[in-house]
Amino acid sequence: MLVFGHRGACGYRPENTLESFELAFIQGADAIECDVVPTKDGHLIVRHDSWLSDTTDIAEHPEFADRKREGLVGWQMTRQDWFVEDFTLAEIKTLRATERLADLRPGSAKFDGQFEIPSLDEFLAASFNDGKHLIIEIKHGSHFALLGFPVAAILARILGESNWRERGITLTIESFDAAVLSQAKRLCGDIAKYVFLVESWGMPSDRTDLGVAAWLDEIASKFDGVGIEAKQLFDDGSLVSKMHDRGLLVYAWTAKVEEAVASIEEYYVGFINLGTDGIFADQPDLLAELVAGLS
Ligand code: G3P
Ligand code: CA
Repeated sequence: MLVFGHRGACGYRPENTLESFELAFIQGADAIECDVVPTKDGHLIVRHDSWLSDTTDIAEHPEFADRKREGLVGWQMTRQDWFVEDFTLAEIKTLRATERLADLRPGSAKFDGQFEIPSLDEFLAASFNDGKHLIIEIKHGSHFALLGFPVAAILARILGESNWRERGITLTIESFDAAVLSQAKRLCGDIAKYVFLVESWGMPSDRTDLGVAAWLDEIASKFDGVGIEAKQLFDDGSLVSKMHDRGLLVYAWTAKVEEAVASIEEYYVGFINLGTDGIFADQPDLLAELVAGLS
């Protein structure tokens, strides 16, 4: 059972920063996960959202004030914000990361304003990744395709130009979007494992044995694994073995100690008992310590 540092060690440092990733490995994570989105000039940066105000200090940059606008952020959902596709990489590099959950994680919010927003190139080049396992999630692939950003192709180019393989790095590529993940697999080939992400809206509408079997057979015919919202596994205890029966890796997301009701140990044991191959954790140190104690 592997421990994945979710957006690094985002329980302790502003997410998706080099400082958060390095800390996750120091804390014993077996792999780290990052999210990527494109910039106006065709680079990929390490951010979770297409909008910038939740995890950067962009609101404090008067030079960008006039770029705040209404933008699409989901199915028929819009918000007033600054959007990554309106900014060049050079402009993004003038921003600094901030804690998304400042009230919940004041210890992390103390680092607000200190860390850069990494490009994917910078992330790949970081020496603390040497010999490690990196999990790259392509965010909002179809959304950006509609805006004219071929994110899978950009990722393939960046990976092709990086020396990550010579440095012993292992790669997993993930997406909630099957079309984008298939495109990444076609363009990047067998250099990585491909993991299809699933949350409630991605579950099959037909939940009979036959319906679930057809759904999993299709996933197994295309990809190496499933990264699934833990709630779906808690709701249906048979899913993990059905996935394993088809040769799929199964990863569960996301363990965050702030959600523990009774004790942190009981909370983590609930995740571990699901029987998955890996768990994404916001506090990888605590989960890694418990897993080590159990083995
Ligand atoms: O990689 C799994 C997990 O990161 C997917 O959810 O929203 O945290 O990117 P999210
Ligand atoms: Ca992610």
